[in-house]
Amino acid sequence: MRIAVLGLGSVGYGLLSSIVDKHPNLTITGVADSKSAGINPDGIDITSLLAQKKETGICGDPSLTARDVVTHAPYDLLVEVTPTDAGTGEPAYGYIKEALSRGAHVVTSNKGPVALYYNELHELAQKNNVSFRYEATVAGAIPILHVMQHDLLGNTITALYGVLNGTCNYILTRMAEEGLTYTQALAEARELGYAEADPTYDVKGIDAGIKLVILANTIFQKNITLNDVSITGIDLLTDDALRLAEHQDCTIRLIGEIVPGTDLFRISPRIIPKNHPLVVKGTLNAITISTDMAGDLTFIGKGAGSIETASAILGDILYISQGKCMD
Ligand code: HSE
Repeated sequence: MRIAVLGLGSVGYGLLSSIVDKHPNLTITGVADSKSAGINPDGIDITSLLAQKKETGICGDPSLTARDVVTHAPYDLLVEVTPTDAGTGEPAYGYIKEALSRGAHVVTSNKGPVALYYNELHELAQKNNVSFRYEATVAGAIPILHVMQHDLLGNTITALYGVLNGTCNYILTRMAEEGLTYTQALAEARELGYAEADPTYDVKGIDAGIKLVILANTIFQKNITLNDVSITGIDLLTDDALRLAEHQDCTIRLIGEIVPGTDLFRISPRIIPKNHPLVVKGTLNAITISTDMAGDLTFIGKGAGSIETASAILGDILYISQGKCMD
């Protein structure tokens, strides 16, 4: 399988490092970062490319771009991991459409195009008999989409509750357990590299809201936008509110909720008992799915990070390369 990779930030770098270490049989024929690109139909030497990126900040020829890779490189599967634009989905949306139209599979961690254009991209993939997969867009390393699309197919899912933003969870944990101020905790989360480029997306609940839209539209066959999600972030939460919760042996978490039958889509800070399964610490994510047959299932894991996100992307790549899906 020939693969082209667009985006060489922390996720793209983690993915290519994992491919070198664990799956050297995958042939990478194109790679692009924001300032350069490389194309080699026989396969790029990824170890050298990563070393060059580390040393010089660019991965290839500055006269080539991501657009050149999408349109000219020979590939069977495009991995799209450029930064998210939640307003337009671009430029990722254009790259993905081009690749699907060329008859290539697409795997992405980019939330913008999936939240905004899932139905169109899914139909384009079906028309061209290829796969469009996006496991890494929701809850990082937790394989939540695959579980709901495949393993729980025989169940009716009656509700989904979850901690979907690692940055907010980190801030709430540090404020409650170490007495940090909101500003201090947010600065730490940014340093760790978990926050979005614009961290207001995290703290105002928008990032979690986008993940809820992806879940609603791709798992529950809704057709909603971010405007349909009732969103309250953690940016206005006071230290006093956290202390008050502590006194009742509770704490506060930013919880996303979908109740399919009632069209409830909500992100809001909730006071919950400390021993509740959704009270996870630091940058962890947690999701509880309520079902008619399997009962309640809770999944906990790393919701962000270079290698953790690469885990979800690699899962999608290998699933497709083993010929297991066309969805
Ligand atoms: N900023 C996001 C988070 C990254 O903190 O969860 C993963 O989507």
